[in-house]
Amino acid sequence: MADYQIAPSILSANFAKLGEEVDNVLASGTDIVHFDVMDNHYVPNLTIGPLVCEALRKHGVTAPIDVHLMVSPVDRIVGDFAAAGATYITFHPEASSHIDRTLQLIKAEGCKAGLVFNPATPLSHLDYVLDKIDMILLMSVNPGFGGQSFIPSALDKLRQARKIIDDSGLDIRLEIDGGVKADNIAEIAAAGADTFVSGSGIFGKPGANDAHRYDTIVAEMRAQLAKVG
Ligand code: DX5
Ligand code: ZN
Repeated sequence: MADYQIAPSILSANFAKLGEEVDNVLASGTDIVHFDVMDNHYVPNLTIGPLVCEALRKHGVTAPIDVHLMVSPVDRIVGDFAAAGATYITFHPEASSHIDRTLQLIKAEGCKAGLVFNPATPLSHLDYVLDKIDMILLMSVNPGFGGQSFIPSALDKLRQARKIIDDSGLDIRLEIDGGVKADNIAEIAAAGADTFVSGSGIFGKPGANDAHRYDTIVAEMRAQLAKVG
């Protein structure tokens, strides 16, 4: 089976007990902590910054932390997130004046780097920087809020991105973000994604017997992925 990774978006977690939520969602069989950073400027919402990332590391989280920057400008905050323990740092090309420079900066800080594509952003931004990229993140909603519906045109874009990655022979993850649930994750995997962000699709479904664990929904997602192979 492909190396599928599930990345719960903590945007939909209970922030009043965030450490416990992250421990529980990882113990339920997920792989990567998806960390949505919004600045009320690039997107019309305001969320969490490097202090919270650092707090999760101090709490004992050892899983990769996938920092999705929805901020503009980008560069000034990169070093802060690297110091706070980020594993991946991804950003939107529209939010950086110098995409190549920002990618170099992220790598120089010792993190893995990625570009994020809004639903209407063309993949051509990859053309001259593919060798500096560890993750391509396709948005299947417009960024800013959890709980939106999956935009179907993302499936075609996933197929295009999968071809770009496979043709390149490079080791690049293909992540999808927005409206991913147990009932569409198989179709999304079949289109080429290997890393699945899900916020409301996981945190909105606490277990019936233990309200703090997500084993049931994560197992359901894994079962759907197993059908794809
Ligand atoms: C949206 C964020 C997503 C969001 C996904 O701007 O980038 O990561 O939390 O939430 P769901 O899975 O609820 O669509
Ligand atoms: Zn995200």
